[in-house]
Amino acid sequence: MKTTKMGGFSSKVGAIAAVAGSAIGLGNIWRFPYITGNNGGATFLFIYLICIALVGFPVMIAAFIIGRKTKKNTVGAFKELAPKKPWFLCGWVGMFSAVVTLGFYSVVAGWSLKYIYLSIMNSFQTGVDFETMFVSFSSSGYDAVSWQLLFMALTAGVVIMGVKDGIEKMSKILMPILVILLVVLAGNAITLSGASEGLTFLFNPDLSAVSGKAILIALGHAFFTLSLGMGTMITYGSYIRDEDSLTKTAVQVIIADTAVALLAGVVIFPAAFTYSVEVTSGAGFVFMALPAIFSEMFAGQFLSILFFFLLAIAALTSSISMLEVPVAFLEQELKIKRKWSVIGISLLSGVVGVLCSLSNGAVDLTLFGKSLMDGAAYLTASILLPSVGLLTIIFMGYFIKKDVIKQQLKIKNELFFSIFMFVAKVVAPVATFIVLCFSVLGVI
Ligand code: TRP
Repeated sequence: MKTTKMGGFSSKVGAIAAVAGSAIGLGNIWRFPYITGNNGGATFLFIYLICIALVGFPVMIAAFIIGRKTKKNTVGAFKELAPKKPWFLCGWVGMFSAVVTLGFYSVVAGWSLKYIYLSIMNSFQTGVDFETMFVSFSSSGYDAVSWQLLFMALTAGVVIMGVKDGIEKMSKILMPILVILLVVLAGNAITLSGASEGLTFLFNPDLSAVSGKAILIALGHAFFTLSLGMGTMITYGSYIRDEDSLTKTAVQVIIADTAVALLAGVVIFPAAFTYSVEVTSGAGFVFMALPAIFSEMFAGQFLSILFFFLLAIAALTSSISMLEVPVAFLEQELKIKRKWSVIGISLLSGVVGVLCSLSNGAVDLTLFGKSLMDGAAYLTASILLPSVGLLTIIFMGYFIKKDVIKQQLKIKNELFFSIFMFVAKVVAPVATFIVLCFSVLGVI
């Protein structure tokens, strides 16, 4: 049996913890609430959940199969399964997305670090204007860039230490604490005066409000939050032991990921309505609403330090998984030393991140008519991730032998297998394709 140089996950729990660590991150706690707020609330949530089930789940399985079957990095995996065919280009596009995403991701993760510092300084006091606080910091240039680079350095440091040591230990202990803290905050949120308005906004859909743009963003976010379309789950799939169940790992991770996003929503929306933070505030939404909660809450300072610390850790376990994609490639295919691969890619993403951070108000940098930061997120989450995800599932559905899929999934029930293959071969690709066409044509 071939193994990766770094070895695989040492246990089933280790695999789930690391895959969940990748999936659960800023996507759940920062991005989900703000795009839900921007796109009308409950209706958006409803579409998002459908995208997760019908597209996210089969694409995750496809990525796991490709990774575990070959035990290779994303480019190497496609090359082995389809020699001399251009499928490996999916790996390249995925790596490009990883470098860009890591750039803007580290900007937001840097904000979380700054908010740990602000919590320690006891800056979240009643009466402070948290919107101004956020905007002046995020558009500050130098200050925001320093925190972003600090985060990038942390990510690089952890990846240099290797898969098992760095990733497994941290996510196993700290992610459950984050979930408990979110439950406590959700308990507090439902006692707030804006609770019923907030929960109605989040959970009571108005199906007549479905828009094409909302569908595209929901689909893109399904890929983003589950770490799909970059090769992360192919790379991680290659570390999952042969005896572990891919289906169970996917189901457990998806449930955990969705639960964290929903919990974050239950915490944020009641607060937004209570403390008059606009739900359409955009990328700063969570960073404006959360300090307001902590400023009023019992043990608020302690809880806010803990919260932003855990948020930064959740971001770290995700950023590690992004960095791991190009690093595994450089290490395995080009035989470049792990340390140098990490340093090279981190520098590249670091530059992207600095430019994204500056585009938030310090310097005028745009892409697709948006700030570079928003443009980069649009390019990756709404175009590149769904495109590579689409190709991944088509590849599994039409180019990998049925027996291999069956053997990887250990499925004995024929009916279940047929349903899965129908979703994987028809439902998920057609839905993704239609949404992508509309978005690329600029119709929505
Ligand atoms: N899923 C992570 C989050 O929700 C972000 C992430 C990590 C990611 N690795 C990825 C997104 C790969 C897309 C592809 O925060």
